[in-house]
Amino acid sequence: MTVAAAEHLRRLPKVELHCHIEGASRASTIADLARRNGVEFPVDDPADLYKFTSLNQFLDIYDVICASLQSADDFHRITYECLEDAVSAGVRYREMFFSPGFVIRLGVPVSTVWEGVSAAVVDARADLDVGCRMILDFDKPSGPGHALEMAEFAAAQDRDLLIGMGADSVERGIDHRAFAEAYAAAGRAGLKRTMHAGEDGPAENIAIGVREFGCDRIDHGFRLLDDPALTDEIIDRQIPLTVCPTSNVMIANVVPDVASHPIARQRELGVLATVNSDDPGMMRFDVADEYVAVAEAFDYTLEEMEAIALDGIEASWAPDDEKAALRRRFESEFADLRSEYGLPARA
Ligand code: ADE
Ligand code: ZN
Repeated sequence: MTVAAAEHLRRLPKVELHCHIEGASRASTIADLARRNGVEFPVDDPADLYKFTSLNQFLDIYDVICASLQSADDFHRITYECLEDAVSAGVRYREMFFSPGFVIRLGVPVSTVWEGVSAAVVDARADLDVGCRMILDFDKPSGPGHALEMAEFAAAQDRDLLIGMGADSVERGIDHRAFAEAYAAAGRAGLKRTMHAGEDGPAENIAIGVREFGCDRIDHGFRLLDDPALTDEIIDRQIPLTVCPTSNVMIANVVPDVASHPIARQRELGVLATVNSDDPGMMRFDVADEYVAVAEAFDYTLEEMEAIALDGIEASWAPDDEKAALRRRFESEFADLRSEYGLPARA
């Protein structure tokens, strides 16, 4: 049984499938953009910006971040910087959310957002040795009209850069079935579909996503095991969950610590449950930290952590040839790291 050091897990090649550009932005950058854009900043020290104790408070801070983002260049900067930070956590490929609903409310058009985000993805691919595709998340509280508008916008973009549509923000008190038309439009356009569901809301929202909206993945899925028939279906259909254990502790507050998180049980049962950070800037906790937390909480061996990294490739929406190349690369990097740390070869 081989246990890995934290530094080894940081350097382990990874795929990340659940990360928001706004929540991944650096507090110092947000402070700088707020000053340049004349936005009143609520704290003196930018590090104090990211302090929250509930999902609602977290989303209030999200609003402050978004008020600081006004031009395409602003979106380019946070997108590019968070991909730089991803590389330092070992990420080789990321499918990442952007959530224009917040800035649309403040008068910034989605086309401005996308101009900056898409250019940063192209630049990061060229400069940083990281693959990336984007997922447009509509804002659930903004309602079905906004959702449909976002589906139609996403449908018209380059599919190699904007691969899917998702939905985020609050879950409680939202009538999820109201988004059927938006998901149908996304499906007709060939967009992949996902949804934040079962984070602090019931397993029923996961069921709506996979049975009624054709979701190819579910973001969080914390409450999945509450519904055994749905769990069987998710396992049979191998619909991945993009699980964010520390976020569920820090943001949604649905579990006291990572050791109490259902991800270990989900994986044991055969759920394709991947490990992700959600909002690494705001939590000051990236996906490498998350790998360490999960390994420690469940006494996972290096083999299991490598399997989690490979499951990220499986659960991704990259084309098959890209997935095969990622698998070859991961296997080779796993072997190099094991040899560097004086560990036996993978069985
Ligand atoms: N947007 C960013 N992080 C989120 C989360 N954990 N839940 C819902 N919406 C989000
Ligand atoms: Zn999220």
